[in-house]
Amino acid sequence: MTLFRLDSSIRLEGSISRAVADTSEAAWRAEHPTGEVIRRDLGVAPLPSDAWATAAFAGWTPVDQQTAAQRDAVALSAQLGDELLAADSYLFGVPLYNWGISQHMKTWIDLVIADPRFGAGSETPLAGRSGLLVIARGGAYGEGTPKFGWDHSTAYLTRVIGEVWGLDLRIVEAELTLADIVPAMSDLKPLAAEFLATAHAAAATHGRTFGEQAAAMASV
Ligand SMILES: Cc1cc2nc3c(=O)[nH]c(=O)nc-3n(C[C@H](O)[C@H](O)[C@H](O)COP(=O)(O)O)c2cc1C
Repeated sequence: MTLFRLDSSIRLEGSISRAVADTSEAAWRAEHPTGEVIRRDLGVAPLPSDAWATAAFAGWTPVDQQTAAQRDAVALSAQLGDELLAADSYLFGVPLYNWGISQHMKTWIDLVIADPRFGAGSETPLAGRSGLLVIARGGAYGEGTPKFGWDHSTAYLTRVIGEVWGLDLRIVEAELTLADIVPAMSDLKPLAAEFLATAHAAAATHGRTFGEQAAAMASV
């Protein structure tokens, strides 16, 4: 059993998305003590932001005419594709930044899509596999809140990872994560704590479940 785990928080200390993903990974690990984890940490080691454009056009250039930079970008894109294809369960930790996804996350997605196995014409390359998307948001974005509709990240991620790549994707959301550090949000601390506890519990459940799903698929 192999778990692919991607983190994208730009902080290591106090990261909620990492902590909730840790909970899910621990639940998966309990089910699969000898399982392998493939890690990609975009917060610690961002991908070069110009690699996507280079890889995208390299596809139009005959291999023997490609520059060294094009070959490197294509190799990076293929490596990212390999990492995804080598797994049977998936865990993504993604904070909301500036009402959308970070440039780090977008570069990763664009480079994966530059791999022909994931790009236009490919058919849901991860179909039938299960994954969990852990979202961390400083504020609240639910219906009735002033910023309802301002999260431009979650729908995009679900579209690409769930629909285009075909993962059976579950979502766990931790909201109001800034309540502990922003004085103006201090009244919201109890609600934030409630959201966080719910997120950890759901992450543990999903970690166990997608482990079970992968095991069932492997035994077919
Ligand atoms: C540069 C930056 C931009 C952010 N933009 C938003 C935002 O647009 N909306 C929001 O609700 N929270 C925003 N936040 C707060 C993060 O979403 C929140 O702190 C989240 O918990 C970060 O994930 P982490 O805890 O895994 O690091 C931002 C944080 C940073 C550092």
